[in-house]
Amino acid sequence: MTNEDLKKAIEKLKDRKIEIEYISKIGEGAWHNVYKMKCHTEEDLVLRIRKKKAYGQFQVFKEIDLITEYESSKVYYKQANQCSFNICPSFFDYYIDESLVFTVESYMGEGKTLPTLSHSQAFSIGKKLGETFKFMQDINPDIKGFGDIIWSGNQLEGEVQQAANDFWQADNDYYLSILNSLSTSDLTFNRDKVGDMIFNLIENRRKKQQKIALVNQDVTPENIILNLDKVSLIDPFPKLDFDLKYAGYFVFCYKFLLPAYSNTTRYQKHAYDQYSKKLSRIADGFINGYILNNENLYKRIVDEYILWTLLEAYEHFEILNENEVDSKTLQQMGDKKMIKSRLLLCLKELENNSLDYGCSLTKTNLSENH
Ligand SMILES: Nc1ncnc2c1ncn2[C@@H]1O[C@H](COP(=O)(O)OP(=O)(O)OP(=O)(O)O)[C@@H](O)[C@H]1O
Ligand SMILES: [Mg+2]
Repeated sequence: MTNEDLKKAIEKLKDRKIEIEYISKIGEGAWHNVYKMKCHTEEDLVLRIRKKKAYGQFQVFKEIDLITEYESSKVYYKQANQCSFNICPSFFDYYIDESLVFTVESYMGEGKTLPTLSHSQAFSIGKKLGETFKFMQDINPDIKGFGDIIWSGNQLEGEVQQAANDFWQADNDYYLSILNSLSTSDLTFNRDKVGDMIFNLIENRRKKQQKIALVNQDVTPENIILNLDKVSLIDPFPKLDFDLKYAGYFVFCYKFLLPAYSNTTRYQKHAYDQYSKKLSRIADGFINGYILNNENLYKRIVDEYILWTLLEAYEHFEILNENEVDSKTLQQMGDKKMIKSRLLLCLKELENNSLDYGCSLTKTNLSENH
């Protein structure tokens, strides 16, 4: 990103009748440099200028991918706002040209940082998110189909269009196939106990087909503005997939993934391992808000947590089987040594769950005053 890009973006905004009074840089993710703008509009806005280089590599310009990404954010924001008033930016627009790509959206405030958040505040934020996710997953998505979302030329659709039941059976079969790959490998873990647990779980899971919903695959704290009165969600990575599976993903992310990845280049600056208890309270609050005393849902979220652990173990196992780790994976997951030790952590977590089948997700954590 150069100052030239910023200047050009400001010019383009002028063409769109957005006059800037004041602009300052407020953040940076892997893909965008982010600026806050005071304008002649009612609300403050955010300008996100796309970087030309991400994860150390120049990005090839693919218009269709950019339209897909930004149109899906727009749809996600709209659907989330229908469920919880202004939880996401109410304004969102984008500009795509080979030489410059940017988005403009409502500024959602600064929010608290993890170190300044108390455990009970972490719980309330999680609860609010759990309630919103449940609400959002209960409505039918405007986009048809299943899987990754793609721009067909004039609308968004799911990558695959088949009967929902086919996806459901394939999803369940996939877990059994990766269990088989791990069990027949030379990895050391209690394959009988883990195997029995997964077989039982999948047998029950098949009978209760989940609903296809618009879900978010990027729920990390960087994409959540931790405001107590008004928690906000930004920068989603939407997909059409099963509802409880992704409720389980949120829990898995906050209870397992974030601390487990805090040794990588991508995540080390956040030091998530130092805040694992707080992250865990966000997950407890999330479950509380999502299940609303429905014990059945609690058990089903625990099952999804276990299945995400299995998927994570398998992903690590596959990367270890490759000759080389590519540069993006190196930054996001670490070198082979780190990947091996995280794989062992996943297997341990699976074994622990097979012992008491309640893992770190004990129900006593789910109350506000724990
Ligand atoms: N609408 C907004 N309101 C307030 N702050 C924002 C907004 N959008 C972005 N930010 C700030 O800028 C940071 C980076 O923004 P964003 O997540 O959009 O970048 P990115 O490069 O797309 O991220 P990623 O690395 O997750 O793909 C956020 O963590 C947040 O602090
Ligand atoms: Mg982000």
